[in-house]
Amino acid sequence: MTQDELKALVGQAALAYVVPGQVVGVGTGSTVNCFIDALATIKGRIAGAVSSSEKSTERLRAHGIQVLDSNGVEQIPVYIDGADEIDQAGHMIKGGGAALTREKIVADIAERFICIADESKLVQTLGRFPLPVEVIPMAAAQVSRRLRALGGEPALRAGVVTDNGGHIIDVRGLRITDPAAMEFEINQWPGVITVGIFARHRASVCLLGTPQGVRTLSF
Ligand code: 5RP
Repeated sequence: MTQDELKALVGQAALAYVVPGQVVGVGTGSTVNCFIDALATIKGRIAGAVSSSEKSTERLRAHGIQVLDSNGVEQIPVYIDGADEIDQAGHMIKGGGAALTREKIVADIAERFICIADESKLVQTLGRFPLPVEVIPMAAAQVSRRLRALGGEPALRAGVVTDNGGHIIDVRGLRITDPAAMEFEINQWPGVITVGIFARHRASVCLLGTPQGVRTLSF
């Protein structure tokens, strides 16, 4: 099976977690695009979607799925999103698509995070994938100095401006053995909008695409 086929498999499998009559939280990325396409087949059975990016909003609307303002929604039963890495406890690195801040906001409104990913995303320890950190542009140099002091090699993602007007710093070389502590630490620094560690908002369930089918991990 190709990676695209694995993504389609978990995108389809995620439909089982969508609660009929309720609003669904929708992430961002190529795996989520498969989920959005699958969601279109049951669009009459949901109350709408809260989206985590302009890109996902565009795709949802193209399918005729109503996109709701996050400020008008008090609670969402499930948020469905991909990940760049996920560990055995459901902690994730996200932000490869630069949507990490809105992703964390929608995840915060949701009761459960359902992660959809192909099996290449499962790791023992987070950090092989460069950690994205969204920053206010004027803080980029100072935040990079702090990241270097933590042992990372930061690099500004060239030409990328997020949906929030932020810049992304990608950090290589970190071995994230305590995701919750590192998330807390980096989030405190002035000018950091969001760090792409999802420990506090970790996955409740991961639907992992494998050549043998969908493997369900519950955390
Ligand atoms: C976007 C994300 C995505 O969930 C992550 O990059 C995974 O994307 P893909 O499904 O394309 O591999 O965090 O900010």
